[in-house]
Amino acid sequence: MSLVPLNLFVAHQGRSSRQHVTCRNRCGDACSRPAPNTSDNAYFGDIVAAMSRRSVLRATGVAVLAVGAGSALAACAGETSTAPSSSTAAAGEPLPGMRFESVAPNTEDAVVVPDGYQQRVVIAWGDPVLPGAPVFDITRQTGAAQRAQFGFNNDFAALLPVEGVAGHYLLVSNHEYVSPQFMFHGYDADAPTREQFDIETGAVGLSVVEVQRSPQGGLRPVMGRYNRRITADTPFALTGPAAGSPAVRTAADPAGRTVIGTFANCSGGVTPWGTVLSGEENFHTYFGAAEGTAPADPARYKRYGVLTEPSELKWENFDPRFDLAETPQEVNRFGYVIEINPWDPASVPVKHSALGRFKHEAANVYVTGDGTVVVYTGDDERFDYMYKFVSDKLIQPGDFAHNMTLLDEGTLYVAKLSSDIPATEIDGSGKLPAAGAFAGTGTWIPLLHSGPAGKAESLVEGFSAQDVAVFTRLAADKAGATKMDRPEDFEANPKTGKLYVALTNNDKRGAEGKATPDAANPRNENKNGQILEITDDHGGTSFTWDLLLVCGDPAAADTYFGGFDKTKVSPISCPDNVAFDGHGNLWISTDGNALKSNDGLFAVALDGNRRGETKQFLTVPIGAETCGPVVTDDLITVSVQHPGEGDDHSLDNPLSHWPDGGTAPARPAVVAVWRDGGAIGL
Ligand code: FEO
Ligand code: CA
Ligand code: CA
Ligand code: CA
Repeated sequence: MSLVPLNLFVAHQGRSSRQHVTCRNRCGDACSRPAPNTSDNAYFGDIVAAMSRRSVLRATGVAVLAVGAGSALAACAGETSTAPSSSTAAAGEPLPGMRFESVAPNTEDAVVVPDGYQQRVVIAWGDPVLPGAPVFDITRQTGAAQRAQFGFNNDFAALLPVEGVAGHYLLVSNHEYVSPQFMFHGYDADAPTREQFDIETGAVGLSVVEVQRSPQGGLRPVMGRYNRRITADTPFALTGPAAGSPAVRTAADPAGRTVIGTFANCSGGVTPWGTVLSGEENFHTYFGAAEGTAPADPARYKRYGVLTEPSELKWENFDPRFDLAETPQEVNRFGYVIEINPWDPASVPVKHSALGRFKHEAANVYVTGDGTVVVYTGDDERFDYMYKFVSDKLIQPGDFAHNMTLLDEGTLYVAKLSSDIPATEIDGSGKLPAAGAFAGTGTWIPLLHSGPAGKAESLVEGFSAQDVAVFTRLAADKAGATKMDRPEDFEANPKTGKLYVALTNNDKRGAEGKATPDAANPRNENKNGQILEITDDHGGTSFTWDLLLVCGDPAAADTYFGGFDKTKVSPISCPDNVAFDGHGNLWISTDGNALKSNDGLFAVALDGNRRGETKQFLTVPIGAETCGPVVTDDLITVSVQHPGEGDDHSLDNPLSHWPDGGTAPARPAVVAVWRDGGAIGL
């Protein structure tokens, strides 16, 4: 592997390196537009400034998490000191699961893995998923071919073992968005064709593909009986309080209970009953209208970034449901957590409105000791919120039909964070406060209770239950939720139950008229993001939190790696998706590395005297982002999304030829990584 010298990363001014073309294709150029949250929720430091540290602790009944090994142990033993050592000595070798040689930052057009590891593409855009799929030919692509092939820009991936067939899994991949400049030769953004529309609507959604362990290592696809494509045309059942509400009724669906299609599926999660959840994220970009169209519902459109102007993709030119003038309610039918049963290709997937409507990055399940199901989900937008849903009913092992109803009845909450760190100690530079760590407490504010048969109760004054389900952001504004730096993946460590939230970045933190830095979002113009660690009373309403990582160049003063020696960690920037290995280590994939290296996958130690140690396991090709990591004992898969997507580049002027090389077009793909004859990281 060829490596870039580390001093390249010392001077790192500017925002995330995500290319402008990626912003346009994926999130409707959100980074260049005002953040939609203009609510005036108070800064939490002001609210709690009068409360002493001890009274906050007593009020919640849980100790603030300590940072650094010594203090963590002290907290467990009931001692009062929570001040971490600034740099815990790194004794011995890395924790199990993290014993590999870190990959150095680089800008290769390749997937780079540690010495001793192998990697190979599992499946790429255009590869067959269904019988009869033609061999991929980018110059002769059709909508029908695309609907039988693996979609574009795969993000989340789940790997579910096929019972009774050793070495076989279902790979379930989200196809978040399309990048027409990189899919079509001679693409004219001002005049896309109907055929391009047809291909694009078939390239989003999800793929279910059976895969098997290959004798050569890695995984290879199988034309199995579970294989399925879900696209922008697949019917979904809308459940929960939004179902049937005026806000989601259209001429094509006057009952407001059957939605056609899913798109903008970012990350997701796997349920214990064997289904897959996926978050509909930047759904607003798929809707448009002729210039000069008045918005049907201005305040609500604005809060979701919905614009009555021609959209980037111009799907509204080809199907009136994407035209906000003709079908103003259609946009309210997207932005949900969806659930699919990959074990039945004929099953009708579900959109769960009891989990609220916003730009869901993901949805991850945690089951409490009594069987209550808790789903954590972040709203990925600058200054938006973190949510959880707590089921009324308990999980019933083996009762699939019962478990499929769990996400329709329960309570939706939004997070409000507090800290007694004085506001004067949060100066926006990232400098640690006198207490030695960014930490505090929090509460879950109830927004909506969903009951049987669509009966629901709003818990926010002035909002109907249906309005909370469909316009959740506005209800959460009213409730006074805490504005975060783009909450992305939000997931519990199966070993400890502690939650980890990737807060990607927020270049507008501290900008004029915007929320100022606070203890959980401590940096102005936050380019590199942070990892929030939460100890939650999962079924209850209180939690404690601290920042595990304040990401960026380890040599910079504004970064923090859980108290670990910063001279011994890999630089990490823009954390996006999180996962866990069987040893209890956290794995993080990145999106938009602001340190001028390709994006990557990192392992982070969480406990003991190596807490905060961060090691880069792989990097993805130039222009790509790393998504959807799945970490098993002897295999890791990652999604390589938008390889070669660079400003001033296109299919006709390529930046990347990964994975096929030569003059081949770049193709998004899933990659498997393994170690010859050994377990990962041991
Ligand atoms: Fe699809 Fe939150 O990035
Ligand atoms: Ca992201
Ligand atoms: Ca995850
Ligand atoms: Ca992503």
